Amino acid sequence: MSITALVLAAGNGTRMKSEKPKVTHEVMGVPMVNLVVEAARNAGAGRVIVVTGHQSELVCDCLNKCCCAEYVETVYQADRCGTANAVQLIEGMLTEEERKGTLVVLAGDVPLIRPETIRTLVDDCVSSNAAMSVLTAKFKKPAGYGRIMRDTDDHVVGIVEDKDATPEELKICETNTGTYAFALDGLFERLRRISNDNAKGEYYLTDIVKVCCDDGLTVRAMRVKDTDETKGVNDRAQLAGVSAALHKRITRRWMAEGVTLISPKTTWIGPHVTIDSDVEIWPNTYLRGHTRIGKGSTIGPDSRVVDSTVGEQVTIDSSIVLESEVGDFCSIGPRSYLRPGCKLETGAKVGTSCELKNAHLKAGAKVPHLSYIGDATIGKSTNIGAGVITCNYDGFKKSRTEVGDNAFVGSDVMLVAPVAIGDGAIVGAGSVISRDVPADAMALERSDQRNEEGMAKFLREMSGGDV
Ligand code: UD1
Ligand code: MG
Repeated sequence: MSITALVLAAGNGTRMKSEKPKVTHEVMGVPMVNLVVEAARNAGAGRVIVVTGHQSELVCDCLNKCCCAEYVETVYQADRCGTANAVQLIEGMLTEEERKGTLVVLAGDVPLIRPETIRTLVDDCVSSNAAMSVLTAKFKKPAGYGRIMRDTDDHVVGIVEDKDATPEELKICETNTGTYAFALDGLFERLRRISNDNAKGEYYLTDIVKVCCDDGLTVRAMRVKDTDETKGVNDRAQLAGVSAALHKRITRRWMAEGVTLISPKTTWIGPHVTIDSDVEIWPNTYLRGHTRIGKGSTIGPDSRVVDSTVGEQVTIDSSIVLESEVGDFCSIGPRSYLRPGCKLETGAKVGTSCELKNAHLKAGAKVPHLSYIGDATIGKSTNIGAGVITCNYDGFKKSRTEVGDNAFVGSDVMLVAPVAIGDGAIVGAGSVISRDVPADAMALERSDQRNEEGMAKFLREMSGGDV
């Protein structure tokens, strides 16, 4: 059975007071419309169509970065004359096969909807042969939402919008979440029978309930268990509210999966992060983007890992790792910065206060203290002394440094790229190396030391003993 999803995202979002469209604002690092699209896709939707309007190009740019972008299409709603009109726009886009299936309608500004909830709503609609099934929620203070009207037999007979409701109807606590599953068969014909004779002068999708009931069709309502799933975002306070709810959902999930969070409140884990069991995460740690952390690793405190793969038994202490690959048994930090394009093979070490960019450390290579290693390869088991710098930029272009296996580069060496140090070579401390060093050679580039006997004592006496 085919499921098509429609995400409504044409609105203005005026209350966000933002230059960018509301649905592109991020919740835990992911634009909210993308979270909704991903939920629809994970619920089994073959196609996800997003209705755009206000700042449409910016919404489309954002959707292009979605994990399931290849399944997403957009349709432009020029005249935002109501949610029923938004649904009508897709009539000509569906195949014969799709028209026999189900349409799920979701709001682009309700980002915490779960795939399982969407799926249950679809199954409820299909299994009961209903024309539609609406997801509802109970709130103590339902102000602002459409209210679900039921007859004496508890059957749903209508949805009345807050602005159009009588004082008696306003007392109803069961609300419309704006999430629906519709049987596509006959839907567009029924949508044409909706009028805009209401407080907002809009074609309300909610009026479809009455049309279905008039035709003697079944309308179902399914109550959501977790009301966080139906929280909408209209302003920055609500944005913070749904972000906090998602934060809690994610941290609970990983703890249930066997991850230790020393301080769940100060640990920030994005929705696309995956973490193996027995990982320990210390306070003030941010795991963002498509990051993966392997079994038994310890991350933090005060660390940020973005779009990176981290192996097993790795330690990352007070450091930043961006778009990099860190192998098993590596250690990073304290206070190091791995910029994009780094690859650390098994057991490699980046110690205190180092910066690496586009650097490849082979197995067991060590950069323990205060170095800048950029556009470089460091061979197997090679040791890089304190303060070594790869001079990869001559003011015009970037060049690479290649250091072989089992080499030793002494402290405070400048490796002026392009340059290569052979396997097993030694470079003496303080050297400025601008020519290649052959394998097993020792390179030393500094002036001879001069000892002037008695000079220190002489100077001290000359200055009256102050030196
Ligand atoms: C809607 C429901 C209401 C429900 C509430 C839940 C209707 C008529 N009412 O009210 O019963 O309780 O959601 O949050 O549907 N949109 C378009 N094109 C349009 C109009 C709206 O794409 O022409 C989009 C909006 O951007 C938004 C969604 O549809 O994402 C809902 O529209 P909105 O105007 O916010 O309806 P509500 O008043 O919130
Ligand atoms: Mg709304």
